Amino acid sequence: MQQRGNFSSKLGVILATAGSAVGLGNIWRFPYEAGSSGGGSFLLLYLLFVLLLGVPVILAEFVVGRSSQRNASAAFQVLAPNTPWHWVGKMGVLTGLLINGFYAVVTGWTFAYLFKSLTGGLMESGVDYQTLFDKMTSDTWAPIGWMLVVMLVAHTIIRKGVSGGIERASKILMPLLLVVMLVLSVHSCMLAGAPEGLKFLFYPDFSKITPTVAFRALGQAFFSLSLGMGCLITYSSYFKQDVDLQRSALQIALLDTLVAIIAGIIIFPAVFTFGVEPEAGPGLVFKVLPNVFAQMGYPFVWSSLFYLLLSIAALTSLISLHEVVTAYVSETWHVSRRWASWSVVGVVSVLGVFSSLSFGLLKDVQLFGRTFFDWLDFITSSVFLPLGGMLISIFVAWKLDRSRLENELAGKGRYAKAVLPFLIFILRYIAPVAIFVIFITSIIGA
Ligand code: TRP
Repeated sequence: MQQRGNFSSKLGVILATAGSAVGLGNIWRFPYEAGSSGGGSFLLLYLLFVLLLGVPVILAEFVVGRSSQRNASAAFQVLAPNTPWHWVGKMGVLTGLLINGFYAVVTGWTFAYLFKSLTGGLMESGVDYQTLFDKMTSDTWAPIGWMLVVMLVAHTIIRKGVSGGIERASKILMPLLLVVMLVLSVHSCMLAGAPEGLKFLFYPDFSKITPTVAFRALGQAFFSLSLGMGCLITYSSYFKQDVDLQRSALQIALLDTLVAIIAGIIIFPAVFTFGVEPEAGPGLVFKVLPNVFAQMGYPFVWSSLFYLLLSIAALTSLISLHEVVTAYVSETWHVSRRWASWSVVGVVSVLGVFSSLSFGLLKDVQLFGRTFFDWLDFITSSVFLPLGGMLISIFVAWKLDRSRLENELAGKGRYAKAVLPFLIFILRYIAPVAIFVIFITSIIGA
């Protein structure tokens, strides 16, 4: 077989996959989705979906990836030749491109904030951060420029393959991000708005649980776990045989959820302290966070450190999205990884220009109240990812050879074997039906 990368160690596997999962989805998207969907009730459903649907579907992707050792689309061709299943993989590749098209823009914002922080412009006294965000993102050229910088950085890392620099760097940087976030969360809990903010995040108001909230929580769970588009198929295709899939899936889901919850603990007390609307949308975190830094000792250090780590977390996720498409293009059309990656940069940059302009020049170009950026975000997370996840579970539970499935999943201990029937039951019945029901009820309710 052609030279395919391998993750160099077990820790590397967990870190790279966790690096894909932990990103803007946890720190930027989770707070704004929770803020728009009522806080506690959203969180409750989100947790339920991560555990009940997220973990089993992660495992389904792992099984497809590791047992085929192919990219998202070729994996289905190997496991089920001459069937239409490879379209699931192809839909995933398309989804990857579309997510990339707005993710690169938001990563560009974090780069811009890092730059502004390092050059001293962010922590000047008297800055109104809500206006600052609107001004920065509505500009025509600067955000596009940052988005292009982000794509070039991602390209450079992708070209060098999977187990080079990122794997090593994230061993140090991801734990550091967690430490910085813990400090920030303690600080937020001492703000005047903390009781109100924490109540908003943790207290589930059952009357606020609607089909739409469930729909959005499901989308957020999939987005945050990098699930439903073959990203984990692609990554696990580089896993070695001795990686315990069950354990890895559980660890990644727990870590990812922990980071999202800590992000919520940082953001919501500040939301209520500094008078930002929880429904502020994609700008929420960018409008709220600088206020938190400004109140701390050494604001320059905290804000620069935070935006640096956030940029890196965003990059490791962006790279995983980029890798899905790059692996597909290069292995399908037999072009070098380098040219495959360039073609991804080209397509994503075009999408990125339109996403970026959705906050300025094209702000009023809307379809059903959504801009181009909003559509990319919504259609991928809420529709394509859950749909992909549903099809992948159906594939693994109904179509895949049973002994292959058991071999891949069995892992070592007795415990791992005992949960197997339960897992298969979820993948066969619960996951597809639950996702289907959430779709239908939210469409009827809309
Ligand atoms: N999960 C990442 C985040 O939370 C984003 C991401 C990376 C992603 N790869 C993905 C989302 C694949 C969906 C599918 O920021």
